[in-house]
Amino acid sequence: MKITVIGTGYVGLVTGTCFSEMGNNVYCIDIDNGKIECLKKGIVPIYEPGLEELVLKNQSNGDLIFTNNLKEGLNNSNICFIAVGTPMGEDGSANLQHVLDAAKEVGQLVNHDLIVVNKSTVPVGTADKVKTTILEELEQRNLKFNIEVVSNPEFLKEGSAVEDFMRPDRVIIGSSNENVIETLKELYAPFTTNHERFITMDVRSAEMTKYAANAMLATRISFMNEIANICEKVGADINNVRKGIGSDKRIGYNFLYAGCGYGGSCFPKDVKALIKIAANKGYDANILKEVEALNNQQKLTLVRKVVDKFGESLSGLTFGIWGLSFKPGTDDMREAPSVVTINKLCELGAKVQVYDPQAMEVAEKYYFEDNKKVKYAKNKYDALDSVHSLLLLTEWKEFRSPDFEEMSKRMVNKIIFDGRNQYNKETLKEFGFEYHQIGNGY
Ligand code: UGA
Repeated sequence: MKITVIGTGYVGLVTGTCFSEMGNNVYCIDIDNGKIECLKKGIVPIYEPGLEELVLKNQSNGDLIFTNNLKEGLNNSNICFIAVGTPMGEDGSANLQHVLDAAKEVGQLVNHDLIVVNKSTVPVGTADKVKTTILEELEQRNLKFNIEVVSNPEFLKEGSAVEDFMRPDRVIIGSSNENVIETLKELYAPFTTNHERFITMDVRSAEMTKYAANAMLATRISFMNEIANICEKVGADINNVRKGIGSDKRIGYNFLYAGCGYGGSCFPKDVKALIKIAANKGYDANILKEVEALNNQQKLTLVRKVVDKFGESLSGLTFGIWGLSFKPGTDDMREAPSVVTINKLCELGAKVQVYDPQAMEVAEKYYFEDNKKVKYAKNKYDALDSVHSLLLLTEWKEFRSPDFEEMSKRMVNKIIFDGRNQYNKETLKEFGFEYHQIGNGY
C-alpha cells in the first residue's frame, strides 16, 4: 500500500519505518527541514534499538521516503497517518494545535478520497474535529471527497518501540466504516497474524482506550509505590509482596515494580490530560489526581532517604548518580526522576557526579538548574570517585552486576540508595555496603 505519515517523532518515525519494512511505500513528512535532511542521510535523531538499521535499509530500497513535501506524499497515497506531538498545555490539557494544523494542510492539498488515521494521543472527540477541519478546507476549494477519520492509538514503549510495533499486543481501530476497517486490517495483517489482536470499535472509545491504558499502568505503579511506602513503615519487603500478589493471574507480574517514580513523555502527560478531560465535563477524577500526586512525591523518595541519613544541609557532600534517562534503553529524560532528584540534591548544597549509558549529552544540554555542580563522568566507576554515596535511578543492565570491590575502592562511604531495587541486600552486606532500597522495611 501507499502511505503518508505526518510527523517523524517517536511514533511517526517508528510507524512509517515499520510499514515500509513490510513492503509498503511510505512517505514520512515533517515540517522540520533539519530533521528531514538528517533522516535522508540515515541519521536517526532518537536512540531506539533496531530503528536506524531499518531506516537505512528501507530508504535505500526506495520504500521509505523522507520529505517535507506533503502534496507529493498525499498524491501518492490513500492512507494518511497523523502522528504529530500533542504537548501538554499550560493547564494540563493536550495541545491539539499540531494535529489540527496537519489536518488543515491535508484539506488544502488532498486531491482524492482519503483515510486519515490519527495516531497521536488526543482527547475524545478529536477525530470529529480533524474531519471538520479537512472538510472546511475542501469546501473552500470547492471540492468534495470522501474523508474517513479513524482513531488508531499507538501503544509502543520507548526502548522497545520497533519490537512493540512489529509484534503488538493489539491493534485498535476506531471507525464505523466497514471498508476502512478492512483496508486497515489488510495493512496491519503482517503484524497481527493472530487475528484476535485486531480490535475494532467506535472512534471515541478508541481515543479513550489510549488514555485509559496509560492511566491504568500509571495507577498500577503509583499503587505499588504506595504499598512500598507502607512496607517501609511496617517492616515488610515490597519485592516479596510483589511476588506474592503477582502470582494471582488477575493481577499478574508485569508492571508491578515499585521505584522512584514513573517518568517519560507519556504517563505524566496523559494522566494530567485525562484529569483535565474529565474536569471539562464536570467530573473530578480523584484516583488519577492521587496517582499523579504520589508520583511527584515518589520522585523525591531517595532525596528524603539521603536527608534522613545526612541531614538537611548536604554542602560538602558529593553523590554519584547512576542512570539519568527515565528508563533504560533510551536517552529520553523527559519527566525523569533523575531531574528532580539531582536539582534537589544541588539545591541542598550537594555536588553530583553522573553517569548514564545514553543520556549524557541531553542531560548536559537541557536538564540541570546548576550545571556547575554536576560532573559528567566517563563511566560508571569514575562517577563514584570520592563520593559520599551512590544513588541508582535507572535500571540499565550495566548497573545490574557491578564490581563491588572496585566501587568500594572509589567511594568515601560505602552507601547505596537504590531507586530501582537492583541488588541483593545480603550480597551488599558481605561487601560492607549500607544499602537503602525502596519498600524494604527490614
Ligand atoms: C508508555 C506505555 O507503556 C506504552 O504502552 C505507551 O504506548 C507509551 O507510554 C505512549 O503513550 O506512547 P513509555 O513511556 O515508553 O511507554 O515507558 P514505560 O516502559 O511504560 O515506562 C514508563 C515509566 O514507568 C518509566 O519511568 C518506568 O521506570 C516506570 N515503571 C514501569 C515503574 O516505575 N514500574 C514498573 O513496574 C514499570
